Amino acid sequence: MSRIAYIDGVYQPLNIPGILVEDRGYQFADGVYEVCAIRGGKLLDEARHLDRLDYSLAALDMPPPMSRPALQQVMRETLRRNRVREGILYMQVSRGVAPREHMFNPELKPVLVITARPIAAERRTQIMKKGISVVSVPDQRWARCDIKSISLLPNVLARQSARNAKVQEAWQIDGQGMVTEGAATNAWIVDAKDVLRTRPATHEILNGIVRQVLLDCVADLGLKFEEKPFSLNEALAAKECFSTASTMSVFPVIEIDGQIIGAGKPGDVAKKLSDAYDAVEA
Ligand SMILES: Cc1ncc(COP(=O)(O)O)c(C=O)c1O
Repeated sequence: MSRIAYIDGVYQPLNIPGILVEDRGYQFADGVYEVCAIRGGKLLDEARHLDRLDYSLAALDMPPPMSRPALQQVMRETLRRNRVREGILYMQVSRGVAPREHMFNPELKPVLVITARPIAAERRTQIMKKGISVVSVPDQRWARCDIKSISLLPNVLARQSARNAKVQEAWQIDGQGMVTEGAATNAWIVDAKDVLRTRPATHEILNGIVRQVLLDCVADLGLKFEEKPFSLNEALAAKECFSTASTMSVFPVIEIDGQIIGAGKPGDVAKKLSDAYDAVEA
């Protein structure tokens, strides 16, 4: 079955050319995106993703491509046409098509593209069982990482560094030696005093949807918690480290830069939070 994408008003096979050369998303990475998890044919945390999409659009002075109900309808139709039960839905809004010049007309019509693809549910189970390894890389991004912009070159290079090191994720380190976040995940530790820590959601990181859902669970789970930056050294000395993102929810980190973290296997807090996330989304 060929995959079907929604491209600016038309559902069409993904491999048919459809994007115009002067789309500002293509020429300037002038656009935003969202990735929602699909489980059992359902979109997880749909309202939170749509709220964050609105936030990103407003931050870049871009109008929404259509009303929220219309967008939800297109999201569901893309799922249906691709028959995805477990996987991810990708939504991208670019500023629109115009002769190439840096400044823009705020009234340009945005171009919406939506795709969906399956990811085997067993991959999540495997990651929770085995954990992942991480390398650290300098954070080379701009000053508005809270906007989910399609301009992802530093994240792409960070992930490629991970691949070159034969590991799964790269944690980015700011000029003060503090961990900001992963290439496409938020970063967490359980520190030497058993305090669960993640960086506050300032302009330096993306406020992940899984991060938001887990923060709502922390108090009920009776965990000691602080929204406070942590250094690479604190991560290396932590009892547990893990990453979070909609693609897999929780990724226990068992190794950073070749050094074993804690007991070298997925920790109890990561498991507890993964279970709590599954319970919220059930
Ligand atoms: C840079 C970055 N941080 C964090 C996340 C996690 O966000 P979410 O939980 O919404 O998937 C992502 C997800 O793509 C990301 O790209």
